[in-house]
Amino acid sequence: MPLKFKSFLQAKPVYKGGKSKPVSRNGKKIYKLSSNENMLGSSPKALAAIQAQVSTLNEYPDYSDIRFRLALEKFYAGKLEANQFITTNSGVANIELITRAFLEEGTECIFSNPAFGPYRGFPKKVGAKSIDVPLIGANFQLDVPGILKAITEKTRLIFVTNPNNPTGTHLPKTQIDELINGLPDHVVLIYDEVYYQYVTADDYVRAFPYVQAGKNVIGINSFSKAYGLAGLRVGYAYSTPEIAAYLQQLRRPFMINSLSMSAAIAALDDTEFIQRTVALILQEKDYLYAHLDQLGIPYWKTQANFILIKPDMDTDLFEAKMLEAGIMVRQTASFGAPGCVRVTIGTREANAAFVAALQQIRN
Ligand SMILES: Cc1ncc(COP(=O)(O)O)c(C=O)c1O
Repeated sequence: MPLKFKSFLQAKPVYKGGKSKPVSRNGKKIYKLSSNENMLGSSPKALAAIQAQVSTLNEYPDYSDIRFRLALEKFYAGKLEANQFITTNSGVANIELITRAFLEEGTECIFSNPAFGPYRGFPKKVGAKSIDVPLIGANFQLDVPGILKAITEKTRLIFVTNPNNPTGTHLPKTQIDELINGLPDHVVLIYDEVYYQYVTADDYVRAFPYVQAGKNVIGINSFSKAYGLAGLRVGYAYSTPEIAAYLQQLRRPFMINSLSMSAAIAALDDTEFIQRTVALILQEKDYLYAHLDQLGIPYWKTQANFILIKPDMDTDLFEAKMLEAGIMVRQTASFGAPGCVRVTIGTREANAAFVAALQQIRN
């Protein structure tokens, strides 16, 4: 008898991440502006904490990451308790854990294109159906009535990203209120806020006021972005005590390794690094807007550390030409934004190289 593979696991690879950085191209420096990493490097406090922890690698880390979850409780000024945090090896690992906890064959979830790929990929892995209710309008807003209409008794999860990847746009509090107030009790909202540090919009809201109010909401966070620790793979989610206790059933013992845990705890305390990072992004996005305006390249104003642009050429060709010029960018057709390209906001040196490459490939 042949092996009995699950039919829904015969699909294509789930997550096609940003390409790895080649060492150099024709001896030229390569700027990786394709994965929304922190171009200032990593939190110095996190790096020091790793050094200090190295001598204890013979010991197991905390069984339930309690040291990390208590640090998160402190970071949220006691507004959330340690048992409301679900710590994982990255934000994406949290999305996978939640998907496994709530979805199976015969269930449904809703997401809104253009969106982060794993919202489609992970539900597929457990045989659940994903329904796309696309973002609408020139500024990619949520179609709240469309989402509420798409909910059935089979719906378990709704994915919302704020600010959104790959568009960089944000959803105002009024829309989030309208969505959450309209959700039936059997539906959980996954509120992915991994870029929240970069937001300046007054009408932005995070997940935690809703969690505090006891709503069925899970906030998703990562140490890969503003903290500059993408290589360590650390993330966390938080939710109501009831949902968090349910999700804890699926976490592995000793999940976060001791280096990652110490680094994440130290990073939470590194406000100086976050301030420096955010200040760079705010300054540099204005620099990039000015040059994109000058070159007549359409783009969307961003609340994150990347900008979605619409080059006036085929995006395969654009990506290849940019790489030839030493700049890695990310096409966004697979995110549901065909014809567009996402560019990470870097240091002035990287951004100037990006602008020079744009000028060069158009000549
Ligand atoms: C919207 C969104 N959510 C979650 C993540 C996950 O980040 P990580 O798995 O590196 O923690 C990313 C990373 O690109 C993202 O863009």
